[in-house]
Amino acid sequence: MGQEPVGEIHHDRSGIVFRPGLEGVPVTQSAICDIDGLQGSLTYRGYPVEDLAAHSTFLETTYLLIWGDLPSPRQLRDFEAEVQMHRRVSFRVRDMMKCFPATGHPMDALQSSAASLGLFYSRRAIDNPKYVYEAVVRLIAKIPTMVAAFKLIRKGQDPIQPRDDLAYSANFLYMLTEREPDPLAARIFDRCLILHAEHSLNASTFSARVTASTLTDPYAVVASAVGTLAGPLHGGANEDVLAMLEEIGSPERAGEYLDEAIASKRKIMGFGHREYRVKDPRAVILQGLAEELFARFGKDEMYDVARALEHEAAERLGPKGIYPNVDFYSGLVYRKLGIPRDLFTPVFAISRVAGWLAHWREQLGANRIFRPSQIYTGAQARNWIPGEDRPPSAGA
Ligand code: ACO
Repeated sequence: MGQEPVGEIHHDRSGIVFRPGLEGVPVTQSAICDIDGLQGSLTYRGYPVEDLAAHSTFLETTYLLIWGDLPSPRQLRDFEAEVQMHRRVSFRVRDMMKCFPATGHPMDALQSSAASLGLFYSRRAIDNPKYVYEAVVRLIAKIPTMVAAFKLIRKGQDPIQPRDDLAYSANFLYMLTEREPDPLAARIFDRCLILHAEHSLNASTFSARVTASTLTDPYAVVASAVGTLAGPLHGGANEDVLAMLEEIGSPERAGEYLDEAIASKRKIMGFGHREYRVKDPRAVILQGLAEELFARFGKDEMYDVARALEHEAAERLGPKGIYPNVDFYSGLVYRKLGIPRDLFTPVFAISRVAGWLAHWREQLGANRIFRPSQIYTGAQARNWIPGEDRPPSAGA
């Protein structure tokens, strides 16, 4: 349609550079997360993600991301208690979810149910700190409940109510798998949530900031980000990785699969990242978590295929800076934890809601509505043609 190939750099009428996909273009200032894509380092509010994954909990990391500092023990206890109190969702939301098609994707169910929260809680109070705190608590508390609820509702079952004696991650696994999880499994899941909680201005976070910049409510902010996260080039890749590993089938086939995929210009799912030129530091930690889980609960046979693929890809894709990203090992961990494949991305959303909300608050702190420009490539002024005189449109 008159456009140059993606990847080219152009200028608009005023000479401003246009970079497709905004690659390398800063669009905001942020104090939340820092990535060094050459060193493979990732920090949240200055803390290395490795330290947080080793020592923190998801709720403590959420507090850090959203309010800027680690909480005192008292602040953390209060935050945990508030989140625990708000885990339940209204029967109206559950009834609405019962009307969703059972075959629908859980990310679509989550997007709709997250948006529906805006109907229940008053809007336009975003300059009131109490409203902001309560919205944060509600979203962090209710998103897992809604993800677990849809899993049971689509099977025709009633959702399981949250259990107050279980901590955040253990409670989610309980609501999902209908049994109390092993403490090691719950701790590993909590560490996964820490690793996925924030990653600077990725597509869904950018989406969240754009929506936030209109001063709409936080439920709309999160719903728009969930929709963006769902795509296969973003959070949706973790589902495709397992399908790819199963298609490869055995470690011996990894090299051949890569050669075919590269020759036919197919992307290897779970590889490559706009920011990293080395192995994603989260993939390094997730691989360790996968091994911890396998040592305790038995190995997933696809792990050997994944390792062979990573090994073979180092030679073929490494020189281009393409290495495993966060999605490469997460599916193997989630499968071992009993999480169904189409819930991998909703689980990612449970965690990333922390980052989205941190960016929501930051955006409101120095807001200017996002309204970029474009380079118009369409028709020049045309004369109106009455319907009977028009040739058929080539459009549809
Ligand atoms: N497999 C094979 N080649 C790849 C891959 C891959 N996974 N990723 C990038 N490349 C190649 C491209 O073919 C292209 O090669 P060329 O220059 O010879 O044409 C070059 O590397 C640049 O690729 P782009 O797609 O332009 O890089 P971009 O920065 O836009 O893409 C992305 C990043 C979307 C993550 C990409 O690597 C990809 O599609 N990966 C697979 C999907 C995936 O795993 N997504 C999850 C990302 S992590 C997350 O969102 C949570």
